[in-house]
Amino acid sequence: MSNQNEFFVIKAKENGVNVIGLTRGSDTRFHHSEKLDKGEVMIAQFTEHTSAVKIRGKALIQTSHGIMDTEE
Ligand code: TRP
Repeated sequence: MSNQNEFFVIKAKENGVNVIGLTRGSDTRFHHSEKLDKGEVMIAQFTEHTSAVKIRGKALIQTSHGIMDTEE
């Protein structure tokens, strides 16, 4: 899939932001949870294994669709 080489960026605006990867395919479940502290940045891709990402906590998220901010 062509969109699988696109990167997205998550920057934590507080301690303990969770970046949760959800599995691709008919079984949608959490497979990875990454904890970011304030100011930490994670750069990631959608992959064969990851089709969705859930972000918990205050963060700035940049994707090809734009930049968005999680609200409290
Ligand atoms: N092993 C995972 C994968 O290849 C790593 C990963 C990629 C991931 N993108 C992610 C984990 C986004 C959490 C969120 O799919």
